[in-house]
This record gives sequence, C-alpha cells and structure tokens, in this order.
Amino acid sequence: MTDTDIKKGLAGVVVDYTAVSKVNPETNSLLYRGYPVQELAATQSFEAVAHLLWHGELPSDAQLAELRESERQHRALLPSVKAVIDGLPVDAHPMDEVRTAVSAIGAEETAGISNVLDAVGSPEENLERSIRLFAQLPAIVAYGQRRRRGLDLVEARDDLDYAANFLWQTFGEEPDEVVVDAFNRSMILYAEHSFNASTFTARVITSTLSDLYSAVTGAIGALKGPLHGGANEAVLHILTEIGDASNVVPWLDAALAEKRKIMGFGHRVYKKGDSRVPTMKAALDTLVAHYDRPDVAELYETLESEFVSRKGIYPNLDYPSGPAYSLMGFDTLTFTPLFVAARITGWTAHILEQQASNALIRPLSAYNGPDERHVEGYVPDE
Ligand code: ACO
Repeated sequence: MTDTDIKKGLAGVVVDYTAVSKVNPETNSLLYRGYPVQELAATQSFEAVAHLLWHGELPSDAQLAELRESERQHRALLPSVKAVIDGLPVDAHPMDEVRTAVSAIGAEETAGISNVLDAVGSPEENLERSIRLFAQLPAIVAYGQRRRRGLDLVEARDDLDYAANFLWQTFGEEPDEVVVDAFNRSMILYAEHSFNASTFTARVITSTLSDLYSAVTGAIGALKGPLHGGANEAVLHILTEIGDASNVVPWLDAALAEKRKIMGFGHRVYKKGDSRVPTMKAALDTLVAHYDRPDVAELYETLESEFVSRKGIYPNLDYPSGPAYSLMGFDTLTFTPLFVAARITGWTAHILEQQASNALIRPLSAYNGPDERHVEGYVPDE
C-alpha cells in the first residue's frame, strides 16, 4: 500500500449509486431526482420537494394534500420530548438539543421493540417515521430558540403550510409573504446534496441495519461541524466580527495572515461556485429590500468580492443563508438546526435508498502504528 492508494477524506471516491440527487461540479448544477434545484425553489413548496425526494416524482395535487395533512397531524411536540428538552441546560448548543430530541423521539417510537433485528422497520414504517420527523423538527427548532429567549412554546397553526407555520411557531407572529417565500426557498436549497458528510454518516449507520432515528441522530452530529452545516452559524459570527463593509480589507488581511478559514467559502465538490448560491442570494436580496438593510448586502458583497479576487474560492450556500436567517429574526445559534429541519428530507430519502439496496459500509485502513510488540511479563497459555 502506498500513499497514493489512500484516499484521505474519501476525496474523489465513488462509493455507491444514488438516484436522489446529482451534483455536477463541471456545470455547477444540482438536480433533485432530475429537476434543477433552482427550478424547484422558484416553483415548489418544501412539502412538494420532500415528496419528490422520498418518492422520486413531484406530487399530484391529491398527493400533496395528503402529505400536508399528515405533516399537520404530527406537528405537535410530544410532551415526553419537550420534557427531555426542558431538562437540558438552557445554554446547551441548539444542535445538541436537536440531536437529543431526535434521539428521544427514536426511543419513544421504537419502545417495545426488544429484538434489534426488528428495530430497522419496513420501508412503509420508515417513510412514516420520516414524515413524522419532518413534521416535528420545526417545533423542536422553534421551541429551542424561544426557550433560550425565556419564551413559551407556540402551538402549531393548522391553517398554515409548513414554511409559514415554522415561522409562526418561532416568532408567534403572522409571517410576511416575502419572508415565507425566502424561507421556503432556503429549505428547498438545503434539502439534499448527495453524499455529503452528514448524509454519508446516515448511510453508514443505516448500513449496519440500525434504525432511522440512530442514523438521523448521527447525521445531526456530523452536520454540527463548522466544515459542514455549522458554517452557516460561523458565517454570521464572522460578519458580526467584521461589522461594516469598510472593515473588510483590514479584517481579511489579518485573517489570511493568520491562515484562518473564511466560513461560507469553499466546497469539496464545487470548485467554481456552488449552484445554490445565486438562488439564495436572490432570496437574501428580497429580504434586504423588505427590511431595508442595504448595509447587510454591502458587507456581504464586499467580503465576497475581496475574498474571491484574492483566493479564487467561491461562496457556498451557507454564505447567503446566514445573513438571510439573521434578517428573518432567527438567532445565529438556530441556523444549523434550520439546516437539520431541511436536510431531514434528503437524509431520510438516502436512508430509504440505502435500506432498499444495502451493503455494510466498512472501508479499510493502512496501519502506520508501531510494529508488533508484546506486553512485558505476558506468558501465553499452554
Ligand atoms: N477560507 C480560506 N481558505 C480556504 C477555504 C476558506 N473557506 N476553503 C478552502 N481554503 C483553502 C485551504 O486552506 C487549502 O489551502 P492550502 O492548499 O494552501 O492548504 C485549500 O483551499 C484547499 O482547502 P481544503 O480545506 O483542503 O479543501 P476541501 O475540499 O477539503 O474543503 C471545505 C472544503 C471543508 C468546505 C473548505 O472549503 C472549508 O473549510 N470551507 C469553510 C467551511 C464552510 O464554509 N463549510 C460549508 C461547506 S458547504 C455546506 O455545508 C452547505
């Protein structure tokens, strides 16, 4: 085995087929089940895209109505899950809170299954579990933000679709259409991205025939990292640190001299720009106009043009989504949980796909530790 045999970070390694989405770095394109993500974001609800990811086709009106009905039925935060959340420190990181809540839902919903072989469930059961998690995550995320602000849970509104209800449960106010539209687009853009680190984590866990909740809990852990989903939170920390467009040049000089990574830029697969950024930037622009915050756009654009011209590294989706979520009123720490609420659709589509055509994922490693040696005083049995 030579160094070139080792694919550090699995870079460039193709490990399986997937029919869920296609990332094409040459054309900067991303297709969900064949549809360009920009077209989906411009025309569809997040519920319709969830159906597409799970079933492979956009829903008919009747299928969309059925999914919406099911989503509405399962929106309420289970009292036992709320109790688990309430038992956590109020300053726990919200990703830890969401991860714990999903794990608690799993314990609740698989209670009574005493044989590990039965925990995996049938495809039908796992689709139902996926819909329930999709429906419950908004309450978990929204309540998390409210709890940190010392506020009570807001009950779901049956007359509102997914995106509007999510905003309602977070802020307790009727959301503006412009904000609902931008939020819906962000959910669609975050929904799926092939074999990224968190999805791959979910597939690895699923490949052991563990259950869907364990796979999603693991995926949330992978998403928390700032090299992955945690970057949307980190972007806001950076923008807050810079403060104003006039500070970009000296801040960047110092950051690059210290070899800091600039969060929200760069991507393992896209090297010429992330296909989702123009759509999310357009949504950010509508919010900038809606809230009359040209300063946000100026800082965003100045840092982007300075960094791209110096390093040739382009923004990823987390760059526009960070300031967009901030304008909507979400706390910075809530950004990555929003990513969870969106990506639950992609993760579960991959879990279903992995279950349908499973092979245990178990790569090899090249050993570079000490040569064989023996414990002093050890005498082998006769
Ligand atoms: N800021 C500064 N330098 C960067 C950045 C960045 N954001 N991204 C890459 N580079 C530099 C690296 O320092 C490295 O330079 P070197 O060769 O001189 O050491 C080179 O570009 C290659 O970078 P790697 O990190 O090795 O490339 P990789 O493909 O592993 O990285 C990654 C992809 C992890 C996303 C990286 O670009 C990064 O850390 N970005 C910041 C975090 C971020 O925004 N993550 C979100 C990912 S997208 C998503 O989850 C929606």
